[in-house]
Amino acid sequence: MDQQYARHVPEMHFLHLRKLVLLAALSVIGANAASPQRRQCSQNDANVIAVELQHKFWDASSGSYIGGELWTDANTLEDLHNLMLLTKSNTYETIADGSYIGRAALNPSTNWVTFFGGSYDDAQWVILALWKISDYKASLGQDYSQYMKSSLAIYDMVAAEWDNDVCGGGVWWSSAHTYKNAITNELFLLTSAQAYTRTGNKNETYLQNALKEYKWLMNSGMQGTDGLFNDGLDSTTCKNNGQTTWTYNQAVVSSGLGALYVADGRSNKTLLAQAQVSLDATMHSALTDNDILKESCDDAQAGGSLCDHDQELFKGLWTKHVQYFLDAADDTSITAKYSDFLTSQHVAVHDNAMNATADVGSVWYAPNEGGSEWGPQPSASGLEAVLSATKYGDKIACSA
Ligand SMILES: *[C@@H]1O[C@H](CO)[C@@H](O)[C@H](O)[C@H]1NC(C)=O
Ligand SMILES: *[C@@H]1O[C@H](CO)[C@@H](O)[C@H](O)[C@H]1NC(C)=O
Repeated sequence: MDQQYARHVPEMHFLHLRKLVLLAALSVIGANAASPQRRQCSQNDANVIAVELQHKFWDASSGSYIGGELWTDANTLEDLHNLMLLTKSNTYETIADGSYIGRAALNPSTNWVTFFGGSYDDAQWVILALWKISDYKASLGQDYSQYMKSSLAIYDMVAAEWDNDVCGGGVWWSSAHTYKNAITNELFLLTSAQAYTRTGNKNETYLQNALKEYKWLMNSGMQGTDGLFNDGLDSTTCKNNGQTTWTYNQAVVSSGLGALYVADGRSNKTLLAQAQVSLDATMHSALTDNDILKESCDDAQAGGSLCDHDQELFKGLWTKHVQYFLDAADDTSITAKYSDFLTSQHVAVHDNAMNATADVGSVWYAPNEGGSEWGPQPSASGLEAVLSATKYGDKIACSA
């Protein structure tokens, strides 16, 4: 208790200091505007990051990001739609249909097995992108039925990969059928629960899949005694393999539990409590440095490792899935618990990771981009942090 309190006080001061620095920077920006709307600061950061991301990395002819990959492109497309929904803008309205993911989704004869090559986490990131695109199209009163159909066809492919024989359940990570890991199964909890609510709470198969996954995942041993999920299971012993506790694993499980809470009628508060365990553990673990997310591979400043292009997206995914968890929980006291921390990620992206052309580096916790790598993944990751703070951050950072 005491130790926690002592740790917390300087962090609070530091957070305030960073807020003031951001405020000062924003006042300078705002000074040129006729009517400065500083409350909109996180929204402005999101806009400039997205503009630069599209300008620098989007290849309209192939409909993909230069330097991107299938699953990171899916997330980046999701982020553009998250941005448009949050800011009520239509800047990227035509991007989805022209993307290679969108083109595949709009083609009823796409062979998804070939498309994904047996990668069942990738498949589910695409499902989430198709759903966010659907939400955006729905907000404009446009037809999104083919996006939904494709998402559910992909879902069926993934659901068929559930296996009871090895370690008592779970969806295989890939068609090699050698590994059951946290992310694939956290995503299956989320996609199953959302498939149920998105199709009108009537197809019990989706809800049963979500409940089956919930039961298996939470008893799988992948969540350590520190509250953090490790990467996966040892397929021989069926025990936690002790591999890396990535940031994204700690939040995708929460948005999955939040989605199940909604699908299950918003009465089982245990789900919300369980969702907070890995989030709280993240905030008080080595996955942060002074209240800022730090992946274990984010070590360039100390002359250590750099994350790879996949790993560069993980911190942003933590913030995005906290946003989705808070949407599902719809509870002001839970939101209040994470608000400062989400603000802190935005401030870190703004002050430390983003440069004058609104490129965002991969390292958030260290000043002057801390030896960052650059590319569509770290930019998308930064965008996710800013968007999450736009929705749920502490508005003190933006209003005087
Ligand atoms: C219900 O969901 C299952 C699982 O994905 C699907 O295969 C089935 O076609 C759905 N049933 C109906 C009536 O939509
Ligand atoms: C920001 O970073 C990107 C990626 O390294 C680089 O291309 C760009 O020139 C930088 N902008 C400034 C103003 O330094």
